[in-house]
Amino acid sequence: MDELREIYLENIDSTNRWAKNNIDTLADKTVVLAGTQTQGRGRLQRIWVDLGKGNLFMSLVLKPAETFDEHYSNLTQYLSVCLCKVLENYGLNPEIKWPNDVLINGKKIAGILSEASVRGTTFKGLVLGIGVNLNAKEADFAQIDKQVTALNLELAHAVDLNGFKTALVEEFFKNYDEFLAKGFEFIKKDYLSRANFLDKELCVALINETKTGVAKGVTDNGELILANGENEFILNIGDIL
Ligand code: BTN
Repeated sequence: MDELREIYLENIDSTNRWAKNNIDTLADKTVVLAGTQTQGRGRLQRIWVDLGKGNLFMSLVLKPAETFDEHYSNLTQYLSVCLCKVLENYGLNPEIKWPNDVLINGKKIAGILSEASVRGTTFKGLVLGIGVNLNAKEADFAQIDKQVTALNLELAHAVDLNGFKTALVEEFFKNYDEFLAKGFEFIKKDYLSRANFLDKELCVALINETKTGVAKGVTDNGELILANGENEFILNIGDIL
């Protein structure tokens, strides 16, 4: 594996924003880490609450090619599978909520946000951000309007942030090249075996509307297949409510 560069920022607004702002000077596969984040960004314009030092705030700078490839859109799902494998090594049974939330016992433990950096018509690279709750206090969850958990609470002991980060980065780059070549199909089995939404009646929030139906599976491109009577919806973005 190529040598990884790592940048540690004690306190930053957002590792994703910082990596995007500095994309020109950052090498492929640079790992950007922060001690704390003041304005963590989440999916669908949400914020990612900072639960303090000891939690993981990380962005991977990826420059796989000069032009955007459709497989890049599934990197968040690839990372969710990698995260599940790392959590399984701690003896847990993580589940994936489409498209890329990772849950333990129904509670969200991590969030993943991919952002493409494009200037004019030039593709500069991707910033794949992940936040994992590793060492949190139950009381801190009061600021979050979702059911959430943290690894230390699931294990009933403190978690070594550096060890966790190393395991996750290693897992990610182990099969990264093969994933880029093959896309979602390469991880489909691993993804589905951890999916918590199959055959369930779902309500999915899209940008300006909601769709309801039974989750029939995911396509070879990682899209959600929702069946509602005669209708079948193929969703590539959204949020299961
Ligand atoms: C979500 O579930 O909405 C995605 C949250 C992604 C949060 C991570 S924390 C590190 C990186 N920097 C950010 O500003 N966001 C991502």
